[in-house]
Order: sequence, then structure tokens, then C-alpha cells
Amino acid sequence: MKKIGVIFDLDGVIVDTAKYHFLAWKDLADHLGFEFTEAHNELLKGVSRVRSLEILLDIGNVELSEEKKQEFLISKNEEYLKYITEMGPEEILPGASELLDALDALGIQYVLGSASKNAPLILKQVNLYERFAGIVDGNSVSKAKPDPEVFLIGAKKLNLKPEQCIVFEDAIAGVEAANTANMISIGIGDEKTLHEADFNFKDLTEISSSFIKELTIRKEKKEQRI
Ligand code: G6P
Ligand code: MG
Repeated sequence: MKKIGVIFDLDGVIVDTAKYHFLAWKDLADHLGFEFTEAHNELLKGVSRVRSLEILLDIGNVELSEEKKQEFLISKNEEYLKYITEMGPEEILPGASELLDALDALGIQYVLGSASKNAPLILKQVNLYERFAGIVDGNSVSKAKPDPEVFLIGAKKLNLKPEQCIVFEDAIAGVEAANTANMISIGIGDEKTLHEADFNFKDLTEISSSFIKELTIRKEKKEQRI
């Protein structure tokens, strides 16, 4: 049996914070006088805060000074934090707690690999912080997904080689990062959007213990991909 470890993305996998990012970014777009839709918000998933602002400004065709950008990055995050600090364990996505329980039962360690600088706070809000063997977040990386840095640091925290790591991701950039890191990528969400993933599931309720066990006996990544 192969020793494996798991790296979880946070937003969209463990909790649905995209709706709060949306409300906070929409507030900024309203302030700047252009429309920001839920479809636009899709483009920001898995993307760093700074890059998210750049994408938003492109959508609105707005150019800002560096100073103004910094100001809006702070005000957007303050707005976002108002929602986050109201979060509780009831906002853990279906299947997430059960999957962590199953991993605990199998003796498989897991760490977080998120682009969010608010990741530790969010995990504390939903009472999951203590369960993770390590946290890699937006404060620990110099390169954002799709760069594999966040997951490679995660593998180090697990004391495992990249090919022994399984990554759960809901964003295209995250799946790409996991694949570049030579890890097994599991796409959570729309299969068509995440078709680059090694495996696809609609949500975490679809992940069984037997699927996890199967991963411990696989010799190579992608051997089931056509
Ligand atoms: C996650 C989310 C992104 C968000 C990023 C940074 O990857 O999917 O939508 O922009 O984290 O989050 P932060 O909490 O640091 O602003
Ligand atoms: Mg995500």
C-alpha cells in the first residue's frame, strides 16, 4: 500500500465563500459604476486577491493608480470579513466533515492549500482549524495558483513526495497547479469546467472511503486517464 496524504483547497471545497467574495467585489463594482455579475465572479475563483482586483477592473474597463488599488484591496477585504466573521460550522459544505472523518479513520493526514489570506480565520470560524496537520495559505506563497508552489509546500508539511499527494480543488487554476506538481487532482464541481482533473466529482458527498483506499494502491498518476 502506498502512503498518501491529502491537500484541500478551501473556498468551494470545504466552504462556499465565493458568495461572500461576490457580494464584496460587487459592492466595489457598484461604487466604481459598472455591473459585476455572478458569471464574472466565476473568473475570480482560485485567483489571488490582487489578481481578482485586476480582473474586476478589466471587466469594468477602469484604470486606477497603485494607491487607489491598495485602498480598494483593503476596503474589499474589510467588507468580506464582515461576512466571514458571521460564519459558523453550519456553512461547511456537504460531505466535507464526513470526508475528514473517513481520512482520520484511515490514518491519512491532510493539510490545507488555499490562495486565501483569510484561510486560517475561516477554518477557525467553522471549527475545523485544529483538524488540519498544516495550513498553507495566501500568506505562505510567493506565486499564486496555477503555480504549484502552494501544493508543493503542502507536500513538505505532509512529509510526502508530490506523487503521494491527492489534491481536492474546485478551480481550474487549482487543478492545473496540482497537475503541474505531479499530484493526483480531484476536481470538485462541474466536470466540463474541470476536465483536466484526474477524477471528477460533483461534491464531497460523492467521495467514499473505498475510493480513497483505491488511491493508496494506485501505482501511478493518471493511469486511468484516456
Ligand atoms: C480563494 C478564492 C478566491 C480568492 C482567493 C484569495 O482562492 O477562491 O476567489 O480571491 O482565495 O482570497 P482572500 O481571502 O485572500 O482575499
Ligand atoms: Mg477554491
